[in-house]
Amino acid sequence: MLHPKGLCLPLVVLVCLIAQSSSLGFRNGRHMNGFLGQPSSMPTLQRSLDVEDLWFEQRLNHFKPDDTRTWQQRYFVNDAFYRNDSQAPVFLMIGGEGEATKNWMREGAWIHYAEHFGALCIQLEHRFYGKSHPTSDLSNSNLAYLSSEQALADLGNFVSAMKRQYNMADSQKWIAFGGSYPGSLAAWAREKYPHLIDGAISSSGPLLAQVDFTQYFEVVKASLASYKPECVEAVSRGFAQVEILLKHMIGQRNLDEKFKTCTPLKDSIENKLDIANLFENIASNFAGVVQYNKDNSPHAKITIDQICDVMLNTTMGPPVTRLGAVNDLLLKQSKTKCLDYKYDKMIAEMKNVSWDSEVAKGMRQWTYQTCTEFGFYQTSENKSDTFGDRFGIDFFIRQCMDIFSDRMNGKFLEQAVAQTNKYYGALKPGTTNVLYVHGSIDPWHALGLYVSTNSNTPAIYIEGTAHCANMYEPANCDPPQLKEARNKILKYLAKLLDGYASFASFT
Ligand SMILES: *[C@@H]1O[C@H](CO)[C@@H](O)[C@H](O)[C@H]1NC(C)=O
Ligand SMILES: *[C@@H]1O[C@H](CO)[C@@H](O)[C@H](O)[C@H]1NC(C)=O
Ligand SMILES: *[C@@H]1O[C@H](CO)[C@@H](O)[C@H](O)[C@H]1NC(C)=O
Ligand SMILES: *[C@@H]1O[C@H](CO)[C@@H](O)[C@H](O)[C@H]1NC(C)=O
Repeated sequence: MLHPKGLCLPLVVLVCLIAQSSSLGFRNGRHMNGFLGQPSSMPTLQRSLDVEDLWFEQRLNHFKPDDTRTWQQRYFVNDAFYRNDSQAPVFLMIGGEGEATKNWMREGAWIHYAEHFGALCIQLEHRFYGKSHPTSDLSNSNLAYLSSEQALADLGNFVSAMKRQYNMADSQKWIAFGGSYPGSLAAWAREKYPHLIDGAISSSGPLLAQVDFTQYFEVVKASLASYKPECVEAVSRGFAQVEILLKHMIGQRNLDEKFKTCTPLKDSIENKLDIANLFENIASNFAGVVQYNKDNSPHAKITIDQICDVMLNTTMGPPVTRLGAVNDLLLKQSKTKCLDYKYDKMIAEMKNVSWDSEVAKGMRQWTYQTCTEFGFYQTSENKSDTFGDRFGIDFFIRQCMDIFSDRMNGKFLEQAVAQTNKYYGALKPGTTNVLYVHGSIDPWHALGLYVSTNSNTPAIYIEGTAHCANMYEPANCDPPQLKEARNKILKYLAKLLDGYASFASFT
């Protein structure tokens, strides 16, 4: 799910952006519309397929038997390939931290697998995202019902009900799919509900919850360097020059111009949180491009090669000017006029509890989940390192406290994350029949199971691909190692499904 903000969920196209802290579409490893991009509408199997909204009556609180309140959860079905016999599998795409997208019902690698195995395809939207609204608003007390545990219980309840609704035989297997946070959920669904979920393909899912995700920007650097090592050097020098220019008024005005700031830096210079936000935004330009580099999603329009070519183009001026040029590219992509780095404005927007607010597209909800379950904060806190020391862990913990509650301090977060790891098993999940898939370019692989010595938890680590790359619609120009990974996944599915397949149609 997540530019330096989210993971990769079957989600959405970046159409416009959340008017919030980041003027850009990507923060904390999460694209504003969710971690996983919506698949592009390139070649498509079923472009014209009409996908309708279906609704399932779901419990609000699975863990309190006398709480009988319910709400309507949205799901989609594609039965075009369903063979409807006692061996026909069901593929369940798990929704995540953004609106569930209908395009995933028409295309993406899993649709090709479904065609191959005669599977019924179902996607269930995650509670509190998209149109699945369990409560009247997103107040703190209502968000108490937002957690991965409740979401997994939703899945369990849903699977049981669908088995009845479709008159399914016990021999029909359910396979979960998910990318980014839903990749984690796919594995955990198998772990916690093994009698309902028979196996899973978990793509780019972080399994280790961690408050201070320092490795994130380390991978961003390595990924930039994999194109050209000098690129990282130029970014480092650019950031160092931003620090120098900030020290005096002429420099501040110069930065206002270069980065198209919405408000002049001279008014914010005493405000450490504004400056932290500024640096985090500029660093996120690189994180967002790296996370989705060439992955056939619409998030991937700008590539590592492209921004590094700008960073290495000396005729454009000094490194700080080139940083500004990269910022321009990202502002343009997200159709944003200026760089908004005001901390208080971001917090005020994030506190809006209305379903109609921009932050209800997922930012408020996902931030809540990071503050109460996962952490995952993409920090940089080393003065002599590329992205500097302006956005350390305190900056993010402060956001949890300012947006939600003073209760959510550093100690609270450490305990919450420890509980999550204890509950799911972190990098030693108790899973069988789950295949973990990661890409080396994707910063999120650092918290996932990408190497495995245990045959119960097999992993595929794709060299040179980004977040959830294997999930998107296959393209001719895909690198051979990505094509090979998709074929390995197909073979793994065949094993899970005891070879039940037509073998006729897969290309
Ligand atoms: C599957 O087959 C059963 C029995 O023939 C039928 O009642 C049901 O409607 C079919 N389901 C689908 C989705 O085609
Ligand atoms: C470098 O930037 C200059 C000025 O913007 C531009 O004309 C030129 O094409 C760029 N060179 C490369 C190699 O991109
Ligand atoms: C929350 O967002 C909605 C929709 O954009 C807006 O109408 C409302 O005024 C906002 N509420 C607050 C308290 O800012
Ligand atoms: C800070 O970054 C520099 C440059 O990358 C590195 O040499 C140094 O070990 C880092 N310090 C810490 C405490 O991580």
